[in-house]
Amino acid sequence: MLAGCLEDPPDYARTLFETTQLLLSMEASNMNQSAQNQAANTPSVTSVPLLDLKRQHDPLQGQFAEALAKICQSGWFCLGPDVKQLEEGVAKYSQVKHAIGCGSGSDALLLALMALDLGPGDEVIVPSFTFFATASAAARLGATPVFADIDPVSFNLDPHDVQRKITARTKAVIPVHLYGQCAEMDTLMQIAEAAGIVVIEDAAQAIGAEFDGHRAGSIGHMGCLSFYPTKNLGGAGDGGMVTSNDDALAKKIQLLRVHGMEPRYYHGLLGVNSRMDSFQAAILNVKLPHLDRWTRMRTENAHRYTDMFLEAGLDRALSLPRALPHRRHVWNQYVVRVPDGRRDDLRTFLNEAKIGAEVYYPLGLHEQQCFAYLGYGRGDLPETDRATEEVLALPIFPELTSAEQAAVVARVTQFYDGPAKGHKLAGPNFLKRREGVAKKDLQN
Ligand SMILES: Cc1ncc(COP(=O)(O)O)c(C=O)c1O
Repeated sequence: MLAGCLEDPPDYARTLFETTQLLLSMEASNMNQSAQNQAANTPSVTSVPLLDLKRQHDPLQGQFAEALAKICQSGWFCLGPDVKQLEEGVAKYSQVKHAIGCGSGSDALLLALMALDLGPGDEVIVPSFTFFATASAAARLGATPVFADIDPVSFNLDPHDVQRKITARTKAVIPVHLYGQCAEMDTLMQIAEAAGIVVIEDAAQAIGAEFDGHRAGSIGHMGCLSFYPTKNLGGAGDGGMVTSNDDALAKKIQLLRVHGMEPRYYHGLLGVNSRMDSFQAAILNVKLPHLDRWTRMRTENAHRYTDMFLEAGLDRALSLPRALPHRRHVWNQYVVRVPDGRRDDLRTFLNEAKIGAEVYYPLGLHEQQCFAYLGYGRGDLPETDRATEEVLALPIFPELTSAEQAAVVARVTQFYDGPAKGHKLAGPNFLKRREGVAKKDLQN
C-alpha cells in the first residue's frame, strides 16, 4: 500500500532523495541556509523533535479551556462526572466491561496486583525489557518479580520462557504490549490457564492495539493503561486506568483506589489513594474521539519510514520494526535495531543533528541496582541484553511530516555513508539468523 515503486517514486521518496543530496552537499560546501533549503525543497526541516505535543494540542486548546473551566466552576476535582465519562468511553473503546480510573499507569499495575492480594512468597512473571513500573508493582507488595526473556522480533514476552519460569508460587504474569504491539496473547492465555495463574496486560503503551481483533486490556483478567503525556492517549499530567471484564475484581479495584473505603470513613480493605483527577479526565475526554485518527497517522508514518528505509537500502544496516500477523499495532514507538555496537554512535549523531532519538530501554530490569537482591546477571536473558544494546526509537508522533521523516532517514543514511564510508552494510546478525525476511514482512 505504501510500498514505493522504483518507476514511479512516491513524493516522500523523492523528498528523501533530495534531502539526502542536501545533507551530503551541506557537508561538502558551505552553502548558505537559504540555498540549502531551496536545494532540498524541505525549507522548514532544520530539526525533528522526538515528540511535539503542541501540534496535537493547539487545535484543541479551546475545548480544553472550556472543559477545565467547567470543573473549576463545579469544584469536583477528583473522580466525579468527567472521570466517569472517561471510564465509560475507554471501556467502550477497549471493548471491556469495566474501566477504573486511577492516578497513573504505575498505580494501575499496583492496584491490579493488590486486587489479587499478592504478597511475600508470591511470584509474578514479567519481562525485563520494559518500563520499571511493570516489575516494581510486584516488588512493592513484597512479591518476587521473575524476569522472562523476550521474542527478538516483537520485543514482547517469549511465551516459552514464561512457561519455563512458572513455579508453584507463580500467581500472575504481566505481558507488556511494548511500543504499541500486543504480546503473543493466545499462547500466553493458554499457558496461564493451564497453570491457573492470572494475566494482567500492561497496555500502558498500547491503547487500541489488538490481538486477533481483541483490544489490549480486554484479553487478560485485567489490563493497565497509562495516560502519561507521551502515550497515544496522553493527558496533561499523570493518569491511568485498570480494565477488566470481571465484576468482582473491578469492584475491588474501585475500593482499593480510595483507601478501601465504603461507606465513608469505614475501611474494609487496605487500599491506597489513587483517585484520578477530573482535569486529566476532562483533557482525555476531549482527546479520545481523535484517537483512531491519530493511530492511523502513526501507522502511515510507520509504513512510510519502512518504505523510505528500504528505498535507501538501510534495511541492510538496520532491522526495521514489524507489525506481526493477527495484530493491530498502534505504533507508540518506531524502534529500529542498530547492530554491531553502533547504536549509541547513531543516537549521538542524530541528536547532534537535532533529530530526536531515544533508547527505550538501555538496561534490563533484571540488571537494575534495586533488583540486585534477585540475583540476576548479564547473560541470563540474552535477547533482553541484545535489545538494550540495539534499540533506537525514532520520531513517530501522528503530526510528523513526511519531509521530517525524509530528514530523519537522510541523516541515518549520512551516518552510514559519511564518516563510515566504506563501512560494509552487512545484514544485521539478527536478520541473518531469520530466514526469508522479505520487504513485505517488514511492511506488514
Ligand atoms: C510499559 C509501561 N508500563 C507502565 C508504565 C507506567 O505508567 P505511568 O507513567 O503512567 O505510571 C509505563 C509508562 O511509561 C509504561 O511504558
